[in-house]
Amino acid sequence: MKTAFLKVDPERFDDGELELPARLIAGGELVAFPTETVYGLGASALNGEAVKEIYRAKGRPSFNPLIIHISSPDEADRYAVTDDRYRALSEAFMPGPLTVVMPDRGKVAPEVTAGLGTIAVRCPVHPVARALIRLSGVPIAAPSANRSGKPSTTTAEHVLHDLGGRIPCVIDGGPSSVGLESTIVKLCPDGTNVLLRPGGITLEMLRETLGTVSVSDAVLHPPAPGSQPESPGMLLRHYAPDAPLYLIRSDRPDAVVRFLREAAADPENAVLSYAGTVPPAPNVYELGNGGPEEAKNLFSLLRLADRKEIKRIYAPLPESDGIGLALQNRMLRAAAFRIKEI
Ligand code: TXA
Ligand code: MG
Repeated sequence: MKTAFLKVDPERFDDGELELPARLIAGGELVAFPTETVYGLGASALNGEAVKEIYRAKGRPSFNPLIIHISSPDEADRYAVTDDRYRALSEAFMPGPLTVVMPDRGKVAPEVTAGLGTIAVRCPVHPVARALIRLSGVPIAAPSANRSGKPSTTTAEHVLHDLGGRIPCVIDGGPSSVGLESTIVKLCPDGTNVLLRPGGITLEMLRETLGTVSVSDAVLHPPAPGSQPESPGMLLRHYAPDAPLYLIRSDRPDAVVRFLREAAADPENAVLSYAGTVPPAPNVYELGNGGPEEAKNLFSLLRLADRKEIKRIYAPLPESDGIGLALQNRMLRAAAFRIKEI
């Protein structure tokens, strides 16, 4: 299959530029599109056959429920049973990098929700994503646009690398500004709230709006053998490069830096490090300073560091406050929970 590559400037484009991808989505085909979090691989959420195609293209072996993307926060009520908590969240953070899980109204194809009885809804803020949803005239079911198990894609080039030839169209709308998948919060009918996946909207921000929010065990711990995680995507190994990643933890930050410097001396190692801590070298990749910038770079750095000659990748284990919780969650999975205490 030939993959059409469509460059669209998110700051200035007109609807006509999205005519082809909108037609493809409406007609039951797949389109990879930019969002502020990561690139998505979209299909009409009303078309079960199209949704099945997503799994085939990603090579995702098992069934996993998908997030539906809507073009305006008010549309959630058509597909989910919303309440005051949803309205408070939507006023504070939508459109934006937040997904809300609520009771399902059964309006989308059953392949989208995997029959869980709940549905995950998100309204992205990326102008190209919102225009595409509006012009398609349907909610778009979309997982991250990567081959199953690989790091999520944050540029159109990464999408082409993973999915070129397997899907009819990729829209290039520039690099994703957040760089990590959306925060997922579940609003339970009993009034409790659970953070299922941390992201750009932090736990602290959610608590300011919702009051109490608990953190699902799956966020920082490997699943118990044989258990069914609350969010089925929270598997043991996910977002993973080919070379094994090891996370370095110590009470003494200087010990972590020393370890990483020594590791960088071996050209078969790649090192991800905080700005200015390890001298520049071809196998040293700077993460930024542990804030939003680190989130933005993490997945593309994991892809860059994963070169053929690299046998191991080392990185510091991030702190767990603010955006750090999301970084820790993604890095623990990319590392299959390999932590090296020093
Ligand atoms: O930022 C994002 O959320 C990106 C962009 C494309 O919007 N999408 C994304 O989708 O990350 P995906 O499929 O890679 O991750 C969706 C996660 C999975 O872990 C899935 O198990 C969970 O959402 N999920 C979907 N529906 C759910 C539901 N009803 N209850 C609990 N978890 C759900
Ligand atoms: Mg994914």
